[in-house]
Amino acid sequence: MGSIRACHSSRYPNPLPPLIQFEPWKFISLSDSKYRETLAVAKVATEKRQLEETSKRLSSALDQVLEVIAILDAGDGSIIYSNTNFSQIFGNPNQWPPHQKFTVLFECQMLATALEQARSGQAWKGRSSLKTYAGKSIVFEGTVSPVRNVEGVVESLVVRLRDITLEVEKDRHLRQVQKMDALGALAGGMVHDFNNLICAILSAAELIERQVGPDSPIQKKLELIQQVGGRARELSKQILNFSRRTDDAWIPFDLTSLITEVKCLLQTTFPSNVEVRSELAKGIRILGDPSQLHQVLMNLGINGSQAMQPDGGVLSIHLEQVETGRRVGDQSFLEPCVQLTVKDTGCGMDPYTLERIFEPFFTTKDVGHGTGLGLSVVYGIVHAHGGNLHVSSEPGKGSSFKIRLPIYQDLNKGMDGSSIESRVSSLFKYI
Ligand SMILES: Nc1ncnc2c1ncn2[C@@H]1O[C@H](COP(=O)(O)OP(=O)(O)OP(=O)(O)O)[C@@H](O)[C@H]1O
Ligand SMILES: [Mg+2]
Repeated sequence: MGSIRACHSSRYPNPLPPLIQFEPWKFISLSDSKYRETLAVAKVATEKRQLEETSKRLSSALDQVLEVIAILDAGDGSIIYSNTNFSQIFGNPNQWPPHQKFTVLFECQMLATALEQARSGQAWKGRSSLKTYAGKSIVFEGTVSPVRNVEGVVESLVVRLRDITLEVEKDRHLRQVQKMDALGALAGGMVHDFNNLICAILSAAELIERQVGPDSPIQKKLELIQQVGGRARELSKQILNFSRRTDDAWIPFDLTSLITEVKCLLQTTFPSNVEVRSELAKGIRILGDPSQLHQVLMNLGINGSQAMQPDGGVLSIHLEQVETGRRVGDQSFLEPCVQLTVKDTGCGMDPYTLERIFEPFFTTKDVGHGTGLGLSVVYGIVHAHGGNLHVSSEPGKGSSFKIRLPIYQDLNKGMDGSSIESRVSSLFKYI
């Protein structure tokens, strides 16, 4: 192949189109009668080349956009074109049976409706979820646009999808945090006033008790007031635990020993069909309120045991040291933290329950069997200790609560608890 530029002469228009390419022997045999024909051949070749270049450029651009793009035949729904992202999420269409339909593959009712709507000439825009070829569920937002031919008939459909699973998850998490913060502030304010009222009722009952003496016929009623008032005070203490963000009673303590204690307590109080197992890293110390952490373990343990009734099962407690990444500016640091996992083999939870478990007063238990405060207290305590919580559960497959807390690092001691003096002296041994 040669370029017409190499053959410029006074007989031909000058300058000639730069991209014209054709076979040189045709040029050599040029005569005036062939002039038009040769130029026509050259024009077709140029257009073909330009088309190829445009097509290459378009295909390379479509392969590099973040979205999934596919062009479907409007008639049978088969895929005419798909970009690289499409294959990454949905598998390579070249390996599908011929004329495999888009909707059949992904069994997404919403997409089927969208394709139908676009087929009738109306573009579709929306979000939904579907299963990828690897079996993973993703949330997407996208459009399906009809493409018409010169007669105005819809010939093909352009599908554009964007995987927004991560964004949706982040949004959900942010909303949850905001909701819990708002509930915490509200509950904290209410409980403060509520506590004052309870104190006034209990003090008044005590005064009356002293005035009327032990043999009075109202003694029993006064006892009832004190009993119910005491329970109300207990409840308000739990709500305060959920909303409180103070570090009044914080001390460095050995979390491993605390868990060992709670494990014994749980095993003795649980029904005999529940076995408690533990695997604990030794000597893990954190800074916090031991009685609150005790409560966290009790609440999680009791929930687990209740979820395993009536058949029983295994409650496992696992404590290990892990490292998490922390970013400051453009640098990232690895911070040691502890991960406490409380896992049961119980009934598990459906997504609706899972979404609400940390809300104060949310319970699925019968009236009188649960206040719905257990996990909201756990949530409040973990967050007050600078930690975070992750739950995974599926109906019939048990539940797993993972808590991460910052590990205690005494500036005068190493992570292994040795004092700075002993570490310096052991260092001198090697110098
Ligand atoms: N391990 C678990 N397995 C299955 N469901 C659980 C588990 N832990 C909590 N849940 C669900 O979360 C709900 C809320 O739990 P939470 O501990 O806050 O309250 P509760 O257990 O219902 O009442 P309380 O703790 O006051 O006795 C429970 O009612 C239950 O539906
Ligand atoms: Mg509970």
